[in-house]
Amino acid sequence: MPCCSAAPPPEGGGIEEGGHALKLGFGIAIHGIYCSWLLNPHDNMTPAVISESILQGQRVRLRPVQESDLPQYVAWLADREVTRWLAAMGTPPTLDDEYEWYERRRSDPDAVMWAIETLDGRLLGNVELRLNTAANRAEVGIGIHDRSQWSKGYGTDAMLLVVDYAFRELKLNRVELTTDERNGRAIRCYEKCGFVREGLLREHRLMDGKYGNTIFMSVLKKEWRARGRTAAA
Ligand SMILES: CC(C)(COP(=O)(O)OP(=O)(O)OC[C@H]1O[C@@H](n2cnc3c(N)ncnc32)[C@H](O)[C@@H]1OP(=O)(O)O)[C@@H](O)C(=O)NCCC(=O)NCCS
Repeated sequence: MPCCSAAPPPEGGGIEEGGHALKLGFGIAIHGIYCSWLLNPHDNMTPAVISESILQGQRVRLRPVQESDLPQYVAWLADREVTRWLAAMGTPPTLDDEYEWYERRRSDPDAVMWAIETLDGRLLGNVELRLNTAANRAEVGIGIHDRSQWSKGYGTDAMLLVVDYAFRELKLNRVELTTDERNGRAIRCYEKCGFVREGLLREHRLMDGKYGNTIFMSVLKKEWRARGRTAAA
């Protein structure tokens, strides 16, 4: 059954209807035959329903994670080079672990997740928001698991879509993340998306026998509004 995320028109953005996709002025398409435009559409929607939104950027499309994606995730996550920066990742997950993760996330009212794919449908990884509705903020986690596709701008494009969605559609006030201070690619990606460093935990991580700092980064709604949604050069 198609699910939909309805959203108010973007500030200053045009809306055109094509098939059953509603294209917003800044490049996000929200698919769903039953879309309706309400004043605050997410009041009555669970994150599981919001996760059915399809967001399209310049380089990537974010779509719901499907069971058929899981074997590919398992194959990628067996590679230590891919998982070394993922704080939550211990031993490589089995297919059963991935199914469990998938079901847990789908039923978690505070989790919103998408698969990341290229515009021609090549799976790249996934991205998720973990909501704290009491404080109107979310933590974001992202992985381009196909490492042959790193540093091609996909992570930045996916992050821009998710952050824009968090502020514009979910009406959050703050999006935050943590990362290893040695993860230069990730930090550069996040800075291009407007995240600023705001603190650190010293020698918080142990990787390959060496301690490293965890850094905290965030972007606020007012900063996002001021900068627009494009990546910084
Ligand atoms: C982090 C990640 C999401 C970034 O996505 P990506 O598609 O590779 O990143 P992008 O291409 O959008 O941006 C990376 C930027 O960092 C730069 N970069 C690459 N390696 C770098 C390094 N060692 N130090 C500093 N900058 C680096 C790239 O040149 C690019 O900047 P540019 O566009 O100005 O040239 C992705 O690499 C990934 O999933 N990595 C493995 C898991 C991970 O680290 N997850 C995040 C955990 S917090």
